[in-house]
Amino acid sequence: MTPPKIFITRLIPDPGLLLVKENFQADIWPHELPPTRVQLIERSRHVEGLLCTLTERVDAELMDVMGPQLKVISSMSVGVDHIDVAAATARKIPVGNTPGVLTDATADQAFALLLAAARRITEAERFVRAGRWVTWIPNLLLGADLAGATLGIIGFGRIGQAVAKRAQGFDMRVIYYSPSAQPAYGAQPVGLDSLLRESDFISLHVPLTAETKHLVNADFLAKMKPNAILINTTRGPVLDQEALYQALKTKQIQAAALDVTDPEPLPMNSPLLELENCLIVPHLGSASKKTRDMMSLLAAQNLVAGLKGERLPNCVNPQVY
Ligand code: DGY
Repeated sequence: MTPPKIFITRLIPDPGLLLVKENFQADIWPHELPPTRVQLIERSRHVEGLLCTLTERVDAELMDVMGPQLKVISSMSVGVDHIDVAAATARKIPVGNTPGVLTDATADQAFALLLAAARRITEAERFVRAGRWVTWIPNLLLGADLAGATLGIIGFGRIGQAVAKRAQGFDMRVIYYSPSAQPAYGAQPVGLDSLLRESDFISLHVPLTAETKHLVNADFLAKMKPNAILINTTRGPVLDQEALYQALKTKQIQAAALDVTDPEPLPMNSPLLELENCLIVPHLGSASKKTRDMMSLLAAQNLVAGLKGERLPNCVNPQVY
């Protein structure tokens, strides 16, 4: 029997690579940067399994290139907005993702950004490096307190709840907007408008879908408190960046801290980069060693199961079975 053709689009951490290699021979993209679209199409032709990351767009065109023998698409990510899941389902292809293992790391990152924006850490560090630290000044770089402040969480799934759990330890009042989620960690459910009106900090934890694209728009921002700080660790397009820029520039809201942008990378001429009150890091929510190891392993487990004709341990479209 000819061994299945497999393409792994990125150099993922060892635990995942080793598991794939124990079972199959795979074509592994050897570079740190992702393949271009043309390279992706070339390398994916007639594969039975694809292991990708969020930098690869896996759409109907690519699925057609892969061909009818395609058995599984596995992404080393929890988000699957880069994959046309409906097109995969129509072709009866299971799509795997990596939920759960990145919950704590992503919640830690949301909280790190929240604290950094509240206490103006990156601004203060730039101040020191610029040689502007002359002496202790009573009114220098004053920030916001967490204790007693209200944190509004939009999207109360695993990661949203893990953020609420952390906020409890900081004596924050936590409210959330998520139509179907049950209360947890002392957080109270509220309507979206109440959340926007009452929150001193807002953290976004909804997946990117047609419904959540530009959820944060000019209208949303206008309803926020002028002292409010916005944190985004989900996906860039959940937020209308032009509207955010205007709100930050005019101090309609106090600050934003972004782990994700639209597009990624953020072009160096983005006006957001001119703002002192906008902190931006390069999509690092799940970037801890242990978490990335676990993500690679789960992605490999999904791939191997799919190639063996078994049910994927984490399947986003179980309707295919
Ligand atoms: C995911 O898994 O969707 C994250 O954005 C990667 O950190």
